[in-house]
Amino acid sequence: MTSAVMNSKRYIGNIEAPFIQEMSEVTHLMWSLGWDELNGGNISYLLDEAEVKKYINIHESLRTIDLTFPVTELAGKYFIVTGSGKYFRNVIKDPEANLGVLRVNEHGKSVEILWGLREGAVPTSELASHFMSHIERLKVDPTHRIVLHTHATNVIAMTFTHDLDELKLTKTLWEMCTECLVVFPDGIGVVPWMVPGSSEIGRATADKMKEFRVVIWPQHGIFVTGPMMDATFGLVETIEKAATIYNLIGVREVKQSITDQKLADLAAAFRVSPKEGVLEL
Ligand code: 13P
Ligand code: ZN
Repeated sequence: MTSAVMNSKRYIGNIEAPFIQEMSEVTHLMWSLGWDELNGGNISYLLDEAEVKKYINIHESLRTIDLTFPVTELAGKYFIVTGSGKYFRNVIKDPEANLGVLRVNEHGKSVEILWGLREGAVPTSELASHFMSHIERLKVDPTHRIVLHTHATNVIAMTFTHDLDELKLTKTLWEMCTECLVVFPDGIGVVPWMVPGSSEIGRATADKMKEFRVVIWPQHGIFVTGPMMDATFGLVETIEKAATIYNLIGVREVKQSITDQKLADLAAAFRVSPKEGVLEL
């Protein structure tokens, strides 16, 4: 068998991998919702070695990329990530060019590319925020797997007009749709506006991830985390829906609302604990 044939056989096997399919589907969906214009947004998904090796040769690294921030806690871990400068619109058409499977090396100082990121592409420029967030979320939730960053339109719009205080922002979002408190009783974290793509914004985001599953980057977008793609996507979808309602209401007079008492009743009925300090009863 020629190497071209072998490569094409390997390629067909790879894109059938469930984790590649999930990444392709969710990026397409997010692009179609208008959240991920151009190359906006990025995703990283922690994978099990056993799952990866069903589809990818884990003994053959294609190249190594040094990290500017060490992540010793993630040594030996496997991820599928979106590539930097890659358009979510294009992932479904050519996963191998726009996504990459990588393994963090044993010292946590570089990543080995095992599949994808064809033609010298590199992982997302927000890898620091992703990796540092994975480290913090894994400490509080061993089932954690996914970090997803997107430029959700109404969330961004809301950060221009709403107070950026975490408790106030959380409360407003809870008030926008009855289901919000049930979906994110732990509330929403916010970092100040910062230059993206840096280790500094990575550290600030991960610091918030100790307490929150969701962190908003004002005038930029949102970071959400979770154990499964459906639930993680559902979380951002719910927050974006609440932000949309907030923006639709705008400055018009509100004639009836979900009061703090109603929110407390809801929390009791669904057995969730609302973040301390949000409700005033
Ligand atoms: P990347 O293309 O490097 O992932 O950057 C997109 C982005 O949203 C930056 O915040
Ligand atoms: Zn972004």
